[in-house]
Amino acid sequence: MTPGGGRGPGGRRDRPVGAPGAGHAPGGHRAAGRLTGVGVGPGDPELVTLKAVRVLREADVVFVPVSAGGEPGYAEQTVRTHVDRPVQRLEFVLGDDPSGRETSWAAAAGAVARAVEGGAWAAFATIGDPNLYSTFTYLARRLPPPVTVDTVPGITALQDLAARAGAVLAEGDQTLALLPFTAGPERLAAALDSFDTVVTYKGGRLLPQLRKVLADSGRLDQAVFGARLGLDGEQLGPLPDGPAPYLSTVITWRPA
Ligand SMILES: C[S@@+](CC[C@H](N)C(=O)[O-])C[C@H]1O[C@@H](n2cnc3c(N)ncnc32)[C@H](O)[C@@H]1O
Repeated sequence: MTPGGGRGPGGRRDRPVGAPGAGHAPGGHRAAGRLTGVGVGPGDPELVTLKAVRVLREADVVFVPVSAGGEPGYAEQTVRTHVDRPVQRLEFVLGDDPSGRETSWAAAAGAVARAVEGGAWAAFATIGDPNLYSTFTYLARRLPPPVTVDTVPGITALQDLAARAGAVLAEGDQTLALLPFTAGPERLAAALDSFDTVVTYKGGRLLPQLRKVLADSGRLDQAVFGARLGLDGEQLGPLPDGPAPYLSTVITWRPA
């Protein structure tokens, strides 16, 4: 078993899904604590599931991520729309500072471990889905056994962008790929060669390069761009020329 709720083959969590709530296990031992990663959608507070709201209301403690650079916590905004209770902020270092990131993940895991000690139940709200490019993964991996980890799925940014664009992601035998532009322009070019619909995350700062890859593949005209969907400053439409916000997503389809 991978310590701290790691991933086994196929990306499955090795850790069992925990039973709800705090309390005593048979034999008088305190039950294991539990952490639930709760997807709260990309920004629009209406794109939150009933289950997410229930968990955020019933958990003993609710954590939300904030970036060490002072970026506003998008998940927190959505949580506050639905839940009138104190939330605890966990600070995460973003960007190209591996040791800073590792230190912040370990500190966050320590805070969660202390909160669930004795069998309490913690929820961690995260934008979109907790199993898709989420800080939640790094946090969950670092939790010491026997804390159990599970997740409540959330609506992803790519689903919201498709809906707002009035576009079908895939039908019939069509193939669909999702990749972060930070994986490199070559990976995007290869995906454009192979897949019918291609979704790109994490391309905001690098949007001019992303735009060029789409143009080179003849797929720029079919592309739709969405930034800060459901949040202040939302943008939707064709790709702009310059850099875009961090929360930017692009979908492109194979020309007919
Ligand atoms: C760290 S990933 C989070 C993904 C998220 N867990 C999900 O399920 O969609 C951040 C990337 O998600 C996309 N994203 C998340 N929220 C978004 C929003 N409100 N508008 C546009 N893109 C968004 C962007 O591509 C951004 O770079």
